[in-house]
Parts: sequence; structure tokens; C-alpha cells
Amino acid sequence: MLPRKRKRIGKFVVWLLVAVMVFGFTGCSQGDDGDVKTPTQGVQPTKPGDSKAQGDDVGQEAGITQGANQDADTTPEPTEPEKEVRTDFYISAIDEEIPSMYEYWKDYFSIGIAITRGELLNDFKGELIIQQFNSMTCGNEMKPDALLDREATKSAGTETCPVLKFDSCDEMLQFCMDNNIKMRGHTLVWHSQTPDWFFMEGYSNKQDAVFASREVMLLRMENYIRLVMEYVNTTYPGVVYAWDVVNEAIAPGDGGEDGMRMSDSFWYQTIGSDFVEKAFEYARKYADPEQKLFYNDFNTYESAKRIAILKLVNKIKEQGNIDGIGMQSHIGMSSPTLLDYEETIRKFGETGLEIQITELDINLDTNTEEDFIKEGTRYKRLFFTFKNLVDTGAANITNVTVWGLTDEGSWLNKDGKRYPLLFNQVLETKPAFWGVLMDDGIPLY
Ligand code: XIL
Repeated sequence: MLPRKRKRIGKFVVWLLVAVMVFGFTGCSQGDDGDVKTPTQGVQPTKPGDSKAQGDDVGQEAGITQGANQDADTTPEPTEPEKEVRTDFYISAIDEEIPSMYEYWKDYFSIGIAITRGELLNDFKGELIIQQFNSMTCGNEMKPDALLDREATKSAGTETCPVLKFDSCDEMLQFCMDNNIKMRGHTLVWHSQTPDWFFMEGYSNKQDAVFASREVMLLRMENYIRLVMEYVNTTYPGVVYAWDVVNEAIAPGDGGEDGMRMSDSFWYQTIGSDFVEKAFEYARKYADPEQKLFYNDFNTYESAKRIAILKLVNKIKEQGNIDGIGMQSHIGMSSPTLLDYEETIRKFGETGLEIQITELDINLDTNTEEDFIKEGTRYKRLFFTFKNLVDTGAANITNVTVWGLTDEGSWLNKDGKRYPLLFNQVLETKPAFWGVLMDDGIPLY
């Protein structure tokens, strides 16, 4: 608009204006041809009735005399159309209506929440979860230590087939079924949160217990996977859409073959380095055909780990038994760099497997307003990266899950001074929430 204004009012007036209104006119000093960029260039009237929409003449006029009866001396600088930029980030999710994250991202990936049974059954949190998430992960309730029933297993009297109980996760699966939320089954084979007795002859929990043989452990593994899948898939059909078949098997430097975790993995120690392949073989055998099988791990952006994971998953992919890689993504405020993180997603994306961000949180340990905004920026940049990778076809990211609902309930919050998530303890949104929604009020840099 400014160049046209110059044509009409002539150079003298313009120079007068330059003296008076320096900022608005500095961009016009390069010529009369009307092509000069101005600070307001690119700002388009948004309503059909605005000047730009009514043709050049009207537009020129409107450009000079926005408002009535103004001459050149009193013309105010053209103002940008008003755009509301959010400044209040702390909105009560209980009292106010807030946008839904899963609705916002529905054309890209599902948005998941890891939650514990106790939190889920809290009315307010349950409602919020229904509104915000379309994928759920049990924080602990579907792990082997929650499902394995030692007494019943011992009484059953067979060395090769454990007995399971599902009271820990029944209500959570039912919640998902009732509310059309899909679940990530987390997790079948893991060195952690699996009781030691499960690896021992006679399911012994004594100090002098000895490992069961490889053959016995392979049968226990197969039966465990079969029993979990059979129960979940017949009792809650269609609810679980993905299984973390093996969690955290890679730990370069720990002594295992090809970068595998060894020192604290009873799976590795009893079965050997092919336990991961075996787990995927059994999982494929018993999973519903539409269920996706994932290898899940943390610090996947560390280069040695990334290389070892790629080697492992490519081997299992050749066997036809894996569909995706889960990147846990428990990250810090500055580490890993987004460059390293993105590079890993790209590398994983090249396998053609699905990528899921399975356990996202940002370990912020300060609570100043400034740092909350910075955390919002980091969340926004992460989602910006995910979006870009999907848009360009670099990675098939199908889910992003945050590991917890409120800062207070985060697994990181043992010292009560961690602020890693999207909601605070009174269920107000944090800047991080608005970052996930790519809100204009959260800076991208
Ligand atoms: C965590 C739970 O959130 C905690 O409550 C529990 O004490 C330990 O495990 N990687 C995983 C998750 O795959 O299962 C872990 O969950 C966090 C790290």
C-alpha cells in the first residue's frame, strides 16, 4: 500500500512524512515504482469487505485515508489487521474450554498419554484425557511385574507356562474401549520391571536360585506373550493397536553382542543375543494382524545406540516381524540438539518402518515464567519437526505420546522439582501445551 500512496501525494509530502514518521516510510526511499517492500508488506486484509478485496482504486484510497477525513499530515501509519496473540497460557482445563491436541494433529499422528490407573480414574483427569488424547499407554499396569502372578504360577506346577492376572490394567483397557481411545501395549519383554523369579528354575525367589535353561525361557517367553495378547485381544478387541514387544535391549558398551544390553538383562543372560528376534517372532504369531509391533528404546539419538538399533531392527524387518521403532524421547531442555534428534528420526524413517514418539517429556528443573516459555518453545519446535518430517515424507510418524499428564505426576518428579509436561498440578495448561498446538504466542526460536 505504501508505494501507491507515494504516487498520489508526491515526493514533497513524502519527505515531510519521512521526517515525521520515520519508521513507516524508511522502506519507500528506493524509488517510485511501487515495488518497494515495506514493513507492512505481506499483511493482507482478512475480511472480504477489506480494502484489498475491493479493487485497486478503492484499495489505494483506503491505503491513504484509513478512517475518515484524514490528510497527508495526519495520516496514521497503516496498521496491521488485529491478530490475537495469546499471552495467558495458564487456562484451567476444568473450567474453560481448551482446544483438543488430538483433534489438532489428527491428520498427522495420534496423540497419546501415559497414565497410571489411579490418575485415570480421577474424574477430572479422565475427562481431560478423553478430550485431549486418542492413544493411551499404561504407565506401569501392563508391565510383566504387574501381570505375572507368582503364587498362581507356582501352584500351576509347570516350568514353562506362567499364570497371569490383569486386574492392574482391566479398568484402563475398559476406559479405552468405552471412550474410543486406542492403546499402546507397553511392554512385553523388558529387563526391568520383570521379577527375577520369572527367570529362575522353579520360579524360585531365593538367593541361591539358578537360571532356567534357554529352552525353558523361550517357552516362558512365548507363553507370556501369547497369554497377554490372547487375553487383551479377546476381552477388549480392537483396543490395543501397537505393542512394545521389546524395550531397551540396546546398550552399547555393556558387553552384549552387537551393542546389546547384557549386564542387567536376564533375558540376554538366559536366552542369548537372539532373544529379541524370538520375542518378535512370537509376537507376530499371536498378535492380531492389524496390530503393529514395535522395538522401543531411550536415547536413540546417541550415535552408537542408533547404529545398533538400526542393525537390530533391520534384521527383524527382514524376518517380517516388526512394524515400527519407538523413540522414548525423555529429553532435556537443550540435549539432545534438535539436529541430532531429527537426524535419528530421518535415519529410522529410511527403514520404511513406522516411527512413534512413545514417552516424550522434557526434564525442566526450574519453574520461572521464562523457562516455562522456553519449554513451550522446545515442545513447539519438536512438533514443528515432526510435522515437517511427515509433510516431506521423510518419516512415517504415527503417534506422539507424552509420558504423563501433570508435572506433579511425572515419573521424573521424585524431588518435586520437575516440570516436564503439558499441565500443572491444578490441571491448568502450561506454555508447553500451547507449544504442542503451535500457538502463535509461543516463540519458535
Ligand atoms: C517408568 C514409570 O513411569 C515409573 O512409574 C516406574 O517407576 C518406572 O518406569 N522407559 C519406559 C517406561 O519404557 O516404562 C518407564 O516408565 C520410563 C522409562
